[in-house]
Amino acid sequence: MQVFNTPAEWAAIRLQFQSKNPSIGLVPTMGALHEGHLGLVTQCIKKSGVSVVSIFVNPTQFNNPEDFEKYPNSLQEDLDLLEKAGVDYVFVPEVKTMYPQETNLKIDFGSLERVLEGAFRPGHFNGVGIIVSKLFHMIQPDLAFFGQKDLQQVAIIKRMVNDLSFPIQLEIVSTRRETDGLALSSRNRRLSPSEREKALILYQSMVLAKKELLEGKSWFEVQQTIQREFEKTEGVDLEYFELVETDQFELFTDFDPQKKNSICVAAYVGEVRLIDNLPVIS
Ligand code: PAF
Repeated sequence: MQVFNTPAEWAAIRLQFQSKNPSIGLVPTMGALHEGHLGLVTQCIKKSGVSVVSIFVNPTQFNNPEDFEKYPNSLQEDLDLLEKAGVDYVFVPEVKTMYPQETNLKIDFGSLERVLEGAFRPGHFNGVGIIVSKLFHMIQPDLAFFGQKDLQQVAIIKRMVNDLSFPIQLEIVSTRRETDGLALSSRNRRLSPSEREKALILYQSMVLAKKELLEGKSWFEVQQTIQREFEKTEGVDLEYFELVETDQFELFTDFDPQKKNSICVAAYVGEVRLIDNLPVIS
């Protein structure tokens, strides 16, 4: 495995295998890697001739400076995990490489970003769009791998790849969970043992909501039940619990079994903000 820090180094590396023209797979990450990332990495290694993982905690996608400062950082551990997994190259750029000057670029994803994460984290998807475009331009992958756990991010990136004609195939990998159902996330590391237990409410509430919807309850009734469950759980603050059309991220006020739809949730467990989603009809 080789670590590189600049697009110039990558250009020199590419020359070495250019004649064989292998497909290049990219897994963009912000480090603090866990089994969920390794699921993406495994798929990338399987489906690409050359695998590249990027590790960069992107400042422009954090609307909350404290969240950025507290974002876990474990570079050496991450590199050890990637080496063991069999990754070919790891891109670890510095901030000044990705942002040689402050950017004022604004990407408007329209209705896709007016709800849920877009509404609660203003500017977040602008930062995601900018950094993912930069990574696509610098690495020029044929395939790029993203996790379904960030469902709205997936919708945004699909739209961007389409709107800007990036010649890249997107591969979406399903969410990995702990045995009790908690979705793997780098942020889980910041949970105390009692918060870790409470965090399970995100998954359990989606499972309950899905069951009730499929039994014929209205979305309004289901949402009320779930809100009450959250209110009963001390130390957990629900931000949203919504039913959306999975690709366009239109909010549904009622369940339509003819459409692809997913339940999305965001909540603070103590000071840690967690998100998750569950398809109801996929
Ligand atoms: O999903 C993430 O970890 C980040 O949003 C990404 C795609 C690596 C961009 O910084």
